Amino acid sequence: MVESIKPIIKLFLDKGYLITPDIIEKSEMEINFFENNLKNNESGELLIFNENMLKELLKKKDKLMVKEEKLVDEIEIENKGIKIIDSYDKIYGKLSVQNFTMHYQKRYDHLKRILQSRNELLALLSINRILSKKDRESVSTIGMVFEKNYTKNNNLILNIEDNTGNINVLINNNKKELFEKAKDIVLDETIGIKGANGDKIIFADEIFFPDISQNEPIKKSPNEEYLAVISDLHIGSELFLEEEFLRFIEWINGKSGNKDQKEISQKIKYLLVVGDIVDGVGIYPNQDDEQNIPDIVLQYDKAAELLKLIRKDVNIIICPGNHDAVRLAEPQPILDKNTAKSLYGIDNIFLVSNPSSVNIGADESFEGFEVLLYHGYSYDDYSANVESIRFSGATVSDRTNMVMKFLLQKRHLAPTHGSSLFIPDSDADDLIIKNVPDFFVSGHIHKANVTQYGKVTKIAGSCWQSITPFQIKVGHSPEPGRVPIINLKTRDTKILKFAE
Ligand SMILES: [Fe+2]
Repeated sequence: MVESIKPIIKLFLDKGYLITPDIIEKSEMEINFFENNLKNNESGELLIFNENMLKELLKKKDKLMVKEEKLVDEIEIENKGIKIIDSYDKIYGKLSVQNFTMHYQKRYDHLKRILQSRNELLALLSINRILSKKDRESVSTIGMVFEKNYTKNNNLILNIEDNTGNINVLINNNKKELFEKAKDIVLDETIGIKGANGDKIIFADEIFFPDISQNEPIKKSPNEEYLAVISDLHIGSELFLEEEFLRFIEWINGKSGNKDQKEISQKIKYLLVVGDIVDGVGIYPNQDDEQNIPDIVLQYDKAAELLKLIRKDVNIIICPGNHDAVRLAEPQPILDKNTAKSLYGIDNIFLVSNPSSVNIGADESFEGFEVLLYHGYSYDDYSANVESIRFSGATVSDRTNMVMKFLLQKRHLAPTHGSSLFIPDSDADDLIIKNVPDFFVSGHIHKANVTQYGKVTKIAGSCWQSITPFQIKVGHSPEPGRVPIINLKTRDTKILKFAE
């Protein structure tokens, strides 16, 4: 219980916030933690670091209490084969430029560590060392991409930076394979470069991404259990496909389908709901003209009413998306206790942040699978701007698997500044793909898809909203009512169809 509250307390302490005993009811372990981390004054009270911070913290008191309630849940969760690895609910004070600097520094440090573990990048030099070299020799370095331009002769010039300086990197178009690889580089991603130095320039021979390994085996469970993925219900929209969604619920409850299908539906143990549970309010102008439930609380009430119909031994894990009633900046915290209150207190519903990492399917003999949930807000940007994806010939709705692979290679869910809204947390970059997951699940694009990259099964959920005029206008071709299911024992996948 206390393990999970520690990072929050530490965050406050690091920022000079006050923690007083009346703010958090102290358990014995918490007292130990305080004692180890705070100096008490003579009368045994905890020291006040900053009066203004105290006021801020007091305002957040309720949130801390919510956290405590959730922690109690966590003990129960483990018994159900679910363990939350990372779910973000930090509270942020006023943010400044300094936060951005530190945030990017944290990201660079983390991705550099991943790149450094590659044999090809052992003899690394910092950029200022390369800049000071007189003779041409072979060099390698790790930098964050600051600029990307094409020369008159159609060569590619990157400007990369580390803590010591900036340097240009030339990728000549006569190195065909390298040039193709480099064309997909996006701003702010972290890359390794190997090449020869010239006068304040590196002529690149090789480029490295913090990509995942291709040699790890695909993990299989000893137990025949199934995982199902849905997303983008958009409850509240008049285009919400309630009838089709009820058909899916009937199926998962074993009330429809042939004998074989019933056998499978009984074995579904985990249902992931990857964002946009409701249609939201005020997401775009005059949205309420297209809604039959224009009230956000009532939208979540309806969601709870439907999800409650699912049999209780299905563990339902829900993260928010850009239509849900939480801040848009990522990481988005778990659905709000006041707005989505009807989803709280349903025993088999577990709320996590977007993104988040969850372990499922573990038992005494098996370590379980790591699932990375990310709604996919940044996908529009990479689908439109990464050359190999944009010119792949696939429609906008069929590019999700390419974008997900691209982001796994970059080990970041939104590497380019501006591709998603984010909180510039100076302590961490929570959009880094730290661990290589077994399942990477998303929504947002409204078309289901299952593909494999290395050991990772990439799953895109479909939607439960019929096609909107806006989607037609922007070239999307959603396919509602599809449900990817995965047999965790064999890792066989199927996409089931509940709507035309
Ligand atoms: Fe959506």
